[in-house]
Amino acid sequence: MATILILHGPNLNLLGTREPYLYGHDTLATLNTKIIALVKTLGHEGIAFQSNAESALIDRIHQSQDDADFIIFNPAAFTHTSIALRDALIAINKPFIEVHLSNIYRREAFRQSSYFSDIALGTLTGLGIKGYLLAVRYAHYYLTKQEGASYPYGPAQNPQAH
Ligand code: DQA
Repeated sequence: MATILILHGPNLNLLGTREPYLYGHDTLATLNTKIIALVKTLGHEGIAFQSNAESALIDRIHQSQDDADFIIFNPAAFTHTSIALRDALIAINKPFIEVHLSNIYRREAFRQSSYFSDIALGTLTGLGIKGYLLAVRYAHYYLTKQEGASYPYGPAQNPQAH
């Protein structure tokens, strides 16, 4: 059994009412319930955390050194701005998947770059809540097939290995 941290960045606490045509009608609570239900079905433990503050997200990433094996992260607007969150993820060296509800590559130019995509195992963008659920399934695959394996951060040397 592993622990998967589901991390949500700023403004995602407003899911359900925030631009539902982009982000869907689920509230954050409903989203987390659905994600964690799947995590449990696959035999793992799930922890959900959301913050609007960059520092709180950094602290939660640091804490995951001790209490999580895998991170599923929607950095929200920090995707496009935060070198500090990028550095935190590199520092703790845990495998993670970047998720976005909307397809950031179909949106404004400033959303079309991410500080996380090149250091993530992979990115799911534009698939709504299904992106998180697919990320959980991949985390399960990764954690059970490669238990104990360390992930080489930085640009993947051998993407096929994942
Ligand atoms: C988002 C996309 C970001 O550009 C935006 O700032 C968000 C949500 C998404 O899930 O689609 O807050 O990460």
